[in-house]
Amino acid sequence: MGVIGEEMQISVSPSHNIDGTLVLPLFEGTDIVPEAHATGLHVALKGQINRVLAEGDFKGKAKSTMTLFGGEGGKAMLVGLGKEEDADAHAYRKAGAAVVAARKKTHGTDLTVRFSGASIDCMGAFAEGMLLRDYSYDEYKMQKEEDKEARRSVRITCDEGQEDELEALVNIHSGVASGVHLSRDLGNCPPNDMYPEAFSDMAWEWAKQYDNVEVTIINYEHAMKAGMGGLVAVGMGSSRKPCMVIFEMNKEKPGRCPLLVGKGITFDTGGISLKPGANMDEMKYDMGGSATVFGTMQALASTGYDGKVVGITCMAENMPAANAQRPGDVITTLSGKTIEVLNTDAEGRLVLSDGLWKAGEFDPEFIIDFATLTGACVVALGHEATGLWSNDDDFRTKIHEAGNAVDELAWPMPLLPAFEKEMTDSKIADTRNLGAGRWGGANTAAAFLKQFVPNRNYDEDGEQITWAHMDIAGTYWGAKTNTMVGNGATGIHVRTMYHLITNWNN
Ligand code: BES
Ligand code: ZN
Ligand code: ZN
Repeated sequence: MGVIGEEMQISVSPSHNIDGTLVLPLFEGTDIVPEAHATGLHVALKGQINRVLAEGDFKGKAKSTMTLFGGEGGKAMLVGLGKEEDADAHAYRKAGAAVVAARKKTHGTDLTVRFSGASIDCMGAFAEGMLLRDYSYDEYKMQKEEDKEARRSVRITCDEGQEDELEALVNIHSGVASGVHLSRDLGNCPPNDMYPEAFSDMAWEWAKQYDNVEVTIINYEHAMKAGMGGLVAVGMGSSRKPCMVIFEMNKEKPGRCPLLVGKGITFDTGGISLKPGANMDEMKYDMGGSATVFGTMQALASTGYDGKVVGITCMAENMPAANAQRPGDVITTLSGKTIEVLNTDAEGRLVLSDGLWKAGEFDPEFIIDFATLTGACVVALGHEATGLWSNDDDFRTKIHEAGNAVDELAWPMPLLPAFEKEMTDSKIADTRNLGAGRWGGANTAAAFLKQFVPNRNYDEDGEQITWAHMDIAGTYWGAKTNTMVGNGATGIHVRTMYHLITNWNN
């Protein structure tokens, strides 16, 4: 596992010195090196850049890069920002990521990034893209990526007087990126080493570095005694028993706070309703929801967020075994509601039923759950967007907008009474964990979860707590068009949550 907080070091200064390779972000159609870029540039290198620009060899298309060698003049890397009129923070973030993706060409050298007329937000976004893309998971390789140290030295040059603001911004991006990277580390970790207790041990150790964070672990025995029938049923077939991990940040602060719940299936075989063998290895990512919660805690804690936040992660390994739950079993959840388990592969909703109900104890302002919940969500939205459901339209819009602000798309989906009805149609229990057919599987799953979102103070006639469900089955891994990630876990929505939570009262 990577060491938390070991992000690429990016410094900020108004100096015109060029250390190592000069990185020049350029708009589409630039045909001569801009004046702001030219200061101190060796004439040979400048000539070469001007030649490729004039000839149209480098067009400045979004995410494109070209490395030029100017002999004793040193090296330059051109990176495209796309059309100037479209060059917002997202374009700069992508360009920053493209530079790191192409870093092999600059192997062993420092980077000096020089902008021409970019806003502080755009320069910050460029740094953010570099930080996010600077990740590889090689914990299990004898040969680690060699140039890790070398590419850690990056300097962004800015105008005189901008350095303090830009440096503060880069520091925030760096802290948030450490949360994204933690989420990826947890997801990428192989399932023989990532099991419920490994996750809870990590959370416990991690919390020690922050005075304002407390971690509570509800172990298997405790979960049984407490009546967490969903968590217990899913996890009991594994020799590695389930647990619930609760993160509390700034818990002494008064008032209601955001509460995040995560599905944490460290491996999903399907259980007795066994999955087919093809690509089953990918089910190590089935704890992505919990990784999102843990990663968000790291993003907030490392950037010094001083508000109250709670995270609840529901950890279990879904295995077929002599002591595993069976299709047909009826379980009693923490809420008291019984569930007829018709398919043991629909296990995420079972562990979440307890996590959502538990959330009510914290009297939260709102609850958001994250889950790699359904293949049906991937059918609906592919790898491009997370499915987003909510019992409150305005809240859903806020999350959608927070996602847009950081380029992590979450797409609104419907919570319909018909779906809920479908899920309560059990002959022998209060509810069932499987829809009537396979259609609308992501929606029926969301409707199922809604039944376990408590009312305020568990008051029967009260108002249901504001809640949203985010199905990240398609976005937690496998997104080929996500420029911030090479491969494996994406760490999606740590940034969305950071944005939402830190802007909540604005
Ligand atoms: N973890 C899976 C969902 C999943 C499948 C995520 C493929 C990403 C890729 C989940 O536990 C599951 O198996 N869901 C079933 C539900 C069904 C049995 C109602 C599914 O989607 O098929
Ligand atoms: Zn499953
Ligand atoms: Zn699952």
